[in-house]
Amino acid sequence: MIEPKKTNQPEAPDATLTTRQGHPVSNNQNLRTVGSRGPATLENYQFLEKISHFDRERVPERVVHARGAGAHGVFEAYGTVGDEPISKYTRAKLFQEKGKETPVFVRFSTVGHGGHSPETLRDPRGFATKFYTEDGNWDLVGNNLKVFFIRDAVKFPDLIHSQKPDPITNRQSGERIFDFICNTPEAMHMVTFLFSPWGIPANYRQMQGSGVNTYKWVNEKGEGVLVKYHWEPLQGVRNLTQAEAEQIQAKNFNHATQDLYEAIERGEYPQWELCVQIMEDGEHPELDFDPLDDTKLWPEDQFPFLKVGKMTLNRNPENYFAEVEQAAFGTGVLVDGLDFSDDKMLQGRTFSYSDTQRYRVGSNYLQLPINSPRASVATNQRDGQMAYHVDTVPGQNPHVNYEPSSLNGLKEAPRRAPDHTPHVEGKLVREPIERTNDFKQAGERYRMFEDWERDELIRNLVSNLADAAQTIQDKMIELCGKCNAEYGRRLAEGLEQHRQGREAQQQAAVKQAEEKSREAQPY
Ligand code: HEM
Repeated sequence: MIEPKKTNQPEAPDATLTTRQGHPVSNNQNLRTVGSRGPATLENYQFLEKISHFDRERVPERVVHARGAGAHGVFEAYGTVGDEPISKYTRAKLFQEKGKETPVFVRFSTVGHGGHSPETLRDPRGFATKFYTEDGNWDLVGNNLKVFFIRDAVKFPDLIHSQKPDPITNRQSGERIFDFICNTPEAMHMVTFLFSPWGIPANYRQMQGSGVNTYKWVNEKGEGVLVKYHWEPLQGVRNLTQAEAEQIQAKNFNHATQDLYEAIERGEYPQWELCVQIMEDGEHPELDFDPLDDTKLWPEDQFPFLKVGKMTLNRNPENYFAEVEQAAFGTGVLVDGLDFSDDKMLQGRTFSYSDTQRYRVGSNYLQLPINSPRASVATNQRDGQMAYHVDTVPGQNPHVNYEPSSLNGLKEAPRRAPDHTPHVEGKLVREPIERTNDFKQAGERYRMFEDWERDELIRNLVSNLADAAQTIQDKMIELCGKCNAEYGRRLAEGLEQHRQGREAQQQAAVKQAEEKSREAQPY
């Protein structure tokens, strides 16, 4: 476990209950009052400290991905990518040697609902990994599905508002979700996955992970390639039907957290292989999609999954709040040899994560043991709320918290290898990408599903769309039809059957009520 540093503690602290000021507490049962019946007085420091700390026990929950579970583990590098030495593509140290181990912490999550919501909900699952490398931290912040709803970061708050509870009724609504989706055709690939059984993984151990966005790898010469990351579970993949999920939810809405925790306690350590897909850097006009578009998969026959290492989760957190709730992952957290692509979703995300964490956890969130790198940290950053220590190093002049200086302050690191320096040129515009191709891969996905998965997909879409306005239903039928004619037709038929079934039920209910009232009439 990461042992939180305690300042100024005696060698052998005893087990006597104290306040945070170190005052022994001799009576923890009764307030100090005027007589045994009160009133209480304001000088009750012991009580005030206890209750006011309790009043502040919660930090704001994550604005998305609030419900989560985490575990510690280790990543072991294979030293190769496919049949090639990995150094051909990246100089990132954690990948270079076969068998090299890097400690990791992973947080799995659901996206839309609050901190104690059921883990059986239809929702993408988050899969965020922090690698504590010798060069500082690398965070790979991904999802279980390999694509996303939108391709432009400016749309993210709208997407999330449509999926969060209604601001008046405080209930999630299929109508609001599909109102956004039917006006966002690029979401069809993700929606096709999400409303199939892939939208409810059986647990966290038996699901895939993916970085979704396109990143870059950079080698010793400063040359870059485009990469996508994928986690493949060695436990296999298992998803639930809606009915199976509802059965579990009736009894247990923590089943995924429980499953992960108990498996690790039993010594059944879950494992994933990290795979990458690699593409030469560039726009690739020969492809019918843009390689920076996160609503698309890179076809595996052209860009095979290449294994680069294996992760094992082998240790449960000992303090959920300190290790899981306060964990902070972000897409900007890369190490030498890994880089950003021009993917504009990725760039929007990269601002958002550390921005929210400075608010959610506090400006010194990187000093917390779960977030702090295992590599040496030496900065001239000082102070701020909850500053716990100063990032100086032995021998450094503590008066010098600026750079450059001739008075023994911190020095810039020597340049290790040439930077990757892509040439960027263009007009500043607000424009969508050219190759949107919103429906082809969604249609392929629909055809690739097994029969039961397609049946589930239609059933789930129908039940979530049934209460939506007719225009929204019509637009969704049109979009599904553009993906695949059968897909659209089956959704239309499903909605029509649902409407007829509901009308028949209503008529039967009216008839029953009439009969009852006739029975009740005295002759
Ligand atoms: C969490 C923003 C897209 C995966 C978060 C958080 C924010 C955020 C603000 C909360 C972080 C915290 O409080 O610590 C965004 C924005 C996006 C975006 C602005 C698009 C522009 C995505 C995508 C993925 C993703 C495409 C998947 C690849 C995650 C995960 C978490 C998360 C896994 C939870 C991390 C954890 O466990 O602490 N996102 N996100 N997000 N996001 Fe995103």
